[in-house]
Amino acid sequence: MAPASEIHTPVLASEVLACLQPRTSGLYVDGTLGLGGHGEALLAASAPAGRLIGFEWDHEAADLARRRLAPFGDRFFLVEASYADMRTELQRLRIGKIDGLLVDLGVSSLQLDSMERGFSFRADAPLDMRMDRRLPRTAADLVATLSEEELADIFYHYGEERQARRIARFLVRARQEAPVTSTARLAEIVARAVPRRFHPRKIHVATRVFQGLRIAVNRELDNLVRLLQDAPSFLAPGARICIITFHSLEDRIVKRAFGSDGAWQVITRRPVEPSAEEIRANPRARSARLRVAERTA
Ligand SMILES: C[S@@+](CC[C@H](N)C(=O)[O-])C[C@H]1O[C@@H](n2cnc3c(N)ncnc32)[C@H](O)[C@@H]1O
Repeated sequence: MAPASEIHTPVLASEVLACLQPRTSGLYVDGTLGLGGHGEALLAASAPAGRLIGFEWDHEAADLARRRLAPFGDRFFLVEASYADMRTELQRLRIGKIDGLLVDLGVSSLQLDSMERGFSFRADAPLDMRMDRRLPRTAADLVATLSEEELADIFYHYGEERQARRIARFLVRARQEAPVTSTARLAEIVARAVPRRFHPRKIHVATRVFQGLRIAVNRELDNLVRLLQDAPSFLAPGARICIITFHSLEDRIVKRAFGSDGAWQVITRRPVEPSAEEIRANPRARSARLRVAERTA
């Protein structure tokens, strides 16, 4: 396999460093370590003594990041768990307060490009979509067991798909004929359900359905809400939290949480977006939005 640095390009990397302003005596947490791109930059910027704890629940990514960050020795520590459990995991490590937190949400290129993980409709694969294979239910399980109404809600609320009800109706009819267990079959059912004139021009017709299922399988919004509720308890006064989101549902949750109580002072009134140059070099950065807040004293 290619080295981690060639698999996934970190987005808004210089903007994250400018906002976190890592110090050499600081303790930082990367909640979504992924392939360790941002992690490596944080460790380099806080040399020679800054420390980083990385959370990553995808075993394959965690392994690659561990290898990449090995040269930093005991300045780096990996926790293979959900960032939603950060509060208890930090308590377990006897860590009181941290000096900065980064969360880069979404899917890594490793996950998107590993066809057998089932995140993409570009190849036929089992309909899995679990970022952490310890999670109890795959996308195929949800498609097999949820009611038509529950599926429609997932497509509508998490996928922002306007044809949600129609797609759910087609899907429930299709699963009565044969179980829907592959990405290609799901994509084909969605394509049949949506009338031709409503097929989007710029994205695949199944994109939103896949996004909705992925969010449901990984409970992505619940995890984010939990982290934002807990974060004030373990960020030191003056410490910053940087969150990179990839769709409006996540961005709305972050914006609301930063504005909701006295715990945060908002640093970015408007979200920071990647430059045209960054998008040209890394098209997957195009929907990234960075919001930053500082823990009040
Ligand atoms: C966009 S990638 C991060 C890439 C990383 N910043 C880098 O530079 O390589 C998002 C990562 O977050 C991980 N992730 C998503 N939700 C998570 C959660 N609840 N707990 C831990 N890791 C999570 C995914 O498995 C994925 O590897």
